Amino acid sequence: MPGLFSPLTVKGLTFASRIVMPPMANNMAPPDGSVTDRHIEHYTARAGHDVALIMVEHSYVRRDGRAGERQLGIYDDALVPGLRRLATAIKAAGSLVGIQITHCGSRTTEAVIGRRPRGPSDVIVPGDKEAPDPFPAEELPDIVRAFGAAAVRAVEAGFDLVQIHGAHGYLLNQFMSPYTNHRDDEYGGSPANRLRLPLEVVDELRRRVGPDYCLSYRLGSDDMLEGGLHLANAQCATPHLVAKGIDLIDVSGGLLGSRPPHLQGQVGYFVPLAEGIKAITGVPVCVAGGITNPEYADKIIREGRTDLVAVGRALLADQAWARRAREAVGGRPG
Ligand SMILES: Cc1cc2nc3c(=O)[nH]c(=O)nc-3n(C[C@H](O)[C@H](O)[C@H](O)COP(=O)(O)O)c2cc1C
Repeated sequence: MPGLFSPLTVKGLTFASRIVMPPMANNMAPPDGSVTDRHIEHYTARAGHDVALIMVEHSYVRRDGRAGERQLGIYDDALVPGLRRLATAIKAAGSLVGIQITHCGSRTTEAVIGRRPRGPSDVIVPGDKEAPDPFPAEELPDIVRAFGAAAVRAVEAGFDLVQIHGAHGYLLNQFMSPYTNHRDDEYGGSPANRLRLPLEVVDELRRRVGPDYCLSYRLGSDDMLEGGLHLANAQCATPHLVAKGIDLIDVSGGLLGSRPPHLQGQVGYFVPLAEGIKAITGVPVCVAGGITNPEYADKIIREGRTDLVAVGRALLADQAWARRAREAVGGRPG
């Protein structure tokens, strides 16, 4: 069986190892959401060193999809030169580079977006402060187009892959979740209707970027909330996402965020979800969540429970994590 340092090819992209740096917002952007030298330093410090893929943090596709004031943006063509500088620098440092594109839906505030937050319904995500208005159905095609335009910008900027953010309680997770989606139009009321907007987004991206470009989806596979979406629902959604053109599923969860407090301290806390998603279609999967130990990371690859491991906070703390991992597991190939 392949191990942590076995290469993997997904949609023509060769991953030199199975180690991914997952998207992690670092709030370094100026108010227009553009790339700064600090972004370049932050990411290039972690590129190479046996990290196969660096995922650039969640970047908003429309101004009203911004979760925070210092978030990175991909909502305007004027941002492409900066994004190109970032993608080029990460590739030159020795990793593949992807970017996560997002709309935060209701998970923002009026102070950040200059208008009342909107989501599928007027349901507040627990812990958030401002109750949202429901998005009118007529506006959803615009959201879909904004995701597509953002993906085209990512391609123009030289990113190797684009990831759609469908987790952590942001817009597409809100639409998929029965907790936050109480609509009674064609975008709610049944699992198929709740999946409609995510599928329209995938369809649009595939149409805009062509058949050969690698598309990933960060799938909120369990809201970890009573009344929310659970693994069985995510398993039903997966074949549809794949049929529309997703090449890689990045398994995550948590409607309230990627690090549910009750799971902290648990090693590989979303690995069972990854296994559950992988079992459905065999589509390559990546998983993050409490993976800090190289032997454990190697083991879950060898056991076929996941294809890629994403190492977030451990890579923030130690930029040479992957090099040390190679020393620890001996760089054993497959
Ligand atoms: C500071 C920070 C920022 C994050 N930002 C994002 C993000 O922009 N998009 C996303 O999908 N997940 C984000 N996450 C979640 C991580 O990608 C990852 O799923 C999570 O940290 C669990 O992995 P870990 O235990 O290896 O850190 C963030 C996590 C941290 C710690």
